[in-house]
Amino acid sequence: MTVKEQILEIFERDRGTVYSGGELAERLGVSRNAVWKAVRQLEAEGWQFDAASGRGYCLREDSDVLSVKGITRCLRGAADGLDIRVYRSITSTNTVLKEMAAEGAPEGTVLVAAEQTAGRGRMNRKFYSPTGTGLYLSVLLRPRMKAQEALFITTAAAVAVARTVEEVAGRETGIKWVNDVFLDGRKICGILTEASFDMESGALEYAVCGIGVNVTPPEGGFPDEIKDVAGAVFTDAAPPADAKNRIAAGIVGHFMEYYRDLSRRPFFDEYVRRSVVVGQDILVLGRDEPRKARALAIDESCNLRVRYEDGSEGVLASGEVSIRRL
Ligand code: BTN
Repeated sequence: MTVKEQILEIFERDRGTVYSGGELAERLGVSRNAVWKAVRQLEAEGWQFDAASGRGYCLREDSDVLSVKGITRCLRGAADGLDIRVYRSITSTNTVLKEMAAEGAPEGTVLVAAEQTAGRGRMNRKFYSPTGTGLYLSVLLRPRMKAQEALFITTAAAVAVARTVEEVAGRETGIKWVNDVFLDGRKICGILTEASFDMESGALEYAVCGIGVNVTPPEGGFPDEIKDVAGAVFTDAAPPADAKNRIAAGIVGHFMEYYRDLSRRPFFDEYVRRSVVVGQDILVLGRDEPRKARALAIDESCNLRVRYEDGSEGVLASGEVSIRRL
């Protein structure tokens, strides 16, 4: 471990405790100057310290920087079997994790980033992923299942996000079939599950489930293309201490719990209960012309049953369509 990592570990273990430069230098067997440099580096990365009137440094309780330690501390034991890696900036956690999967990375590899420079959404759209205000993560899975069951990975993730937001922010969230989490009528999270299949058996080789959450609105607001739809977990009130690590840990923890029991689908009823689409008039956007329809129900395969304006009914599978509420 570098001096910086060791110092961070000490501060993270006990936030709010004051450590003098001399004490840290002695404990780590380095110079005071090395300690000072490491603290400056950590500050440059976003960690917030209070200089305790000449007595030393103290990591602020509300310092909110994503870190492996910060996430695992909030995961409490549920981190078993996970290899969590945190990046300040990355192209796309899904893209990088898929490359790692192809090279044999094991199930439970989790990439978390504070910024994506090439974040991707469904239907080849971009996913706006600015630094400092969001949280972008991907989980690698190697499930034994058929292609059509992969949809349950996305639905499990949606419920994991919805629950976590409720726990951390105390706000009721809804799910827009199939992969968006909504708060106050605005999208606060998108999910993109990508999979690789064995062509012969049709079995999944691996799946990468990517989740992007807007924790607070970006400074200057969301870009024009999404400003009418996008929202954030915390808009009025300031986020609580360590919100990003807690949200990341909550999502990963709930998601892995559901995933380990995927065949029983313990999240399904909640997924349906949280639907903001069932009973609504929608526009079905697919390969054909957009069609107006009424969303009737989500069936046990997580497909959406709809009735079109001409009275005919259809079953939508998420891979082919996206919907817009009217
Ligand atoms: C959507 O709304 O269409 C899905 C958005 C999925 C975004 C997440 S952020 C983490 C992961 N990496 C990506 O590039 N995309 C997913």
